[in-house]
Amino acid sequence: MLARQTQNKALQWLGRQLFNRDDPAAFFDPLLEQVNPMWVQQYTPALVKQIINETSDTKTLVLKPAAHWEGFEAGQHVNICVEIDGVRHDRTFSLSSAPALWKKQGLVTLTIKRLPGGLVTNWIHDRLEAGTTIGLKEAFGEFRLPATPRPILFIAGGSGITPILSMLETMAADDYRAPVTLLYFVRTSSDIIAREKLEALASRYPALTLTIIITHESDEPRYLRESDLQAVPGLKARDVYMCGPGGLMDLAGSQLQNLGVKEDSIHKTFFAAPATVLDGGAVGGTVQFAKSQVEVSSEGDANLLEMAEAAGLSPRYGCRMGICHQCSCRKTSGTVINRITGQSSGPGEENIQLCVSVPQGPVSVEA
Ligand code: FES
Repeated sequence: MLARQTQNKALQWLGRQLFNRDDPAAFFDPLLEQVNPMWVQQYTPALVKQIINETSDTKTLVLKPAAHWEGFEAGQHVNICVEIDGVRHDRTFSLSSAPALWKKQGLVTLTIKRLPGGLVTNWIHDRLEAGTTIGLKEAFGEFRLPATPRPILFIAGGSGITPILSMLETMAADDYRAPVTLLYFVRTSSDIIAREKLEALASRYPALTLTIIITHESDEPRYLRESDLQAVPGLKARDVYMCGPGGLMDLAGSQLQNLGVKEDSIHKTFFAAPATVLDGGAVGGTVQFAKSQVEVSSEGDANLLEMAEAAGLSPRYGCRMGICHQCSCRKTSGTVINRITGQSSGPGEENIQLCVSVPQGPVSVEA
């Protein structure tokens, strides 16, 4: 009887705790209380459990997101939010761990390279400490493994290895039964990210052929050659996944085309915005940001996000390279050129991404 009364009282107390909270989940997840309440609706809090030095300019953050975070597929990106000197900043990074680590231990990793002049990456390298809570959004992105196993060639450059690490860990764990080749390009041997992990993968996952190519340790730079690709067995039948600097991606793209690999077999993701060279005389215009009642003019190839910021507006953004869609906005009239594809939009209403849209004449957007 006493036990039953105690149990009832405990349930009543629990009910009161939940009822008195705006967000009942906060009661169960102490992480939710550690972040700016303004964040909680938009971001999942994630505790920085550990920071691992990978190379002199690359660190891996081991994060424990609050339990309601929805998880991800190998190869996807995530937006994080950090507060630097009272200002909130969003950035996009690839998840470098396999989804299994999240499912089994509730952990994910991000492997982040310091970018010259990069506000957020420098802050992460110099000031972020284990024990801090940062914000995390849900994962996104179409850089994902095929639904059924097919032979794959991965081409990675520098920190472009990060989504591929997640994919390889997943394939090894799932015993992905098809040939897999990784060509990994780095400037020097000290720039190899996760070297031990890659070597361990190659030894425990026999389907994987790992080749690391050092580009800048000899008299002449050693870039990707067609012979590297010709040496991959059954190249034309493979899906190709590429992530790295624009130069490597462009070179690989043209060599693969020369060797007869079909365009629709090639999957790319970026860690820096690829840019089509736009004719400065053919772009630029006056942009009306309708909600903000601001009008801005440009004569060069500034994108709409840069123009809005230059005018003191603060539109939402994440990756600034056309992959996260955080900056999506309704264009109500006018033509823009997509900085990545070089293609012009129609003149009418449609959704555009501010960060990759360059005006071509007068443009109105809803922002
Ligand atoms: S900020 Fe990510 S698509 Fe524009």
